[in-house]
Amino acid sequence: MKNIKIIQAPLAGISDMIYRKLVREKSSETLLTTEMISSEALVNNQKTLIIKHDKSEYPLSFQLSGHKTHIMAAAAKFLNKYANCIDINFGCPVNKVVKGTDGAALMRNPKLAADIVKAIKDVIDVPLSAKFRLGWSLDEINFVDFAKTLENAGVDFITIHARTRSQMYSGKADWEKLAQLKGEIKIPYFANGDIKSVQDAINCLKISGAQGISIGRGLIGNPCLAWHIEHYLNSGEILRELTLDEKIEILKKHIEGEIDLRGEVNGIKFMRKFYNFYISSVKDASKYRQVLVRLENKKEILKVLDEILSLHIANTR
Ligand SMILES: Cc1cc2nc3c(=O)[nH]c(=O)nc-3n(C[C@H](O)[C@H](O)[C@H](O)COP(=O)(O)O)c2cc1C
Repeated sequence: MKNIKIIQAPLAGISDMIYRKLVREKSSETLLTTEMISSEALVNNQKTLIIKHDKSEYPLSFQLSGHKTHIMAAAAKFLNKYANCIDINFGCPVNKVVKGTDGAALMRNPKLAADIVKAIKDVIDVPLSAKFRLGWSLDEINFVDFAKTLENAGVDFITIHARTRSQMYSGKADWEKLAQLKGEIKIPYFANGDIKSVQDAINCLKISGAQGISIGRGLIGNPCLAWHIEHYLNSGEILRELTLDEKIEILKKHIEGEIDLRGEVNGIKFMRKFYNFYISSVKDASKYRQVLVRLENKKEILKVLDEILSLHIANTR
C-alpha cells in the first residue's frame, strides 16, 4: 500500500467490478475501490453484486458506510479476507445517507467516527482508510481536526473531497484548503475532487501538498486516465488523449462485461448512464445518446457505435 499515488474513488452505481477492471487493465498501481457498501446490508446477509470482485483487481479497497460501531466492525471483519484495504465513508452528502447519520453526518460526530475507526481497527489486519469532506458547510469546516481525530484513532491514510457537504457537487473543489493538513498529521492524505486530466492531477498535487490523488468522475468513460497519470508520475511524460475509436473499443468491452455480469437486459439498462461520457467528444453526442439509451439489444447498440465512429471519421477528414 506504501507506493499508492492514485486511488480510483468509490462511485455508487458505477464502480462495479467491470468498471474497476477497465481501470486496472492499463494501470497496475492504482488502488481500486468498490462502491459504498452498507454495513447493515452486508451483515444482514445481503451479499449482492456490490461485493463481487476478482483477484486480478488487487490492490482493491472495500468501502463501508454505516454508523453502528459493532455492525461496521462485523462488516469489516467479513471483508478483511478479500480486501487489501478497508475504507470508511465519512463523506457521502446525500440526504438518504446523512439522515441515517451515516456518511458526512459523521463529520459532526467525531467521537462516534473515532469509535468506528477503533472498532474496525481491532478486527482487521489490512490498512484502514477514511474518506471525508472539508466539513458540513463553509461555516463548519473541520477537516483538519477530523483528520487528527481519525489518525489518533488508527486510520492509516485519508482521502478528502475538497468540498463541504452543503456544496454537494457544486462549485469547484478547493485543493488549496487541503494544504492546511501539511505538518498537522503524519499519515498520508489524498486529494479528491475535479481531477479530469493529467494536468489537473499535476496541479492538484502541487496545490494541495497531498501525497496522492483520488479520481471519481474523471474516470467515467475515460478509465485510461489513471494509467496516463501513473505514467506521468513514473516518467514525466504526458501521453496523448485517447482517440474516439479507442474510447469506443473500451465502451464495447464495458458493455460486454456488464452483460456477462448482469445478463443482457440488466446489463444494457445499467450501461445507459455511461454513453454520454464515452462519446462526449462526438458532434451531436446528445442525439446519439438518446438513440443508444432506447436500444435493448446488444447487436443494435454495437452497430450504432460503429456508425458513430464512421461518421466521426468522415467528419474529421
Ligand atoms: C454517482 C456518484 C456516486 C458516488 N458514490 C460514492 C460512494 O459510494 N462513496 C464515496 O465515498 N463517495 C462517492 N461519491 C463521491 C466521489 O467518490 C468523489 O468524492 C466525488 O465525485 C468528487 O470527486 P471527482 O470530482 O473526482 O468525481 C460519488 C459521486 C458520484 C458522482
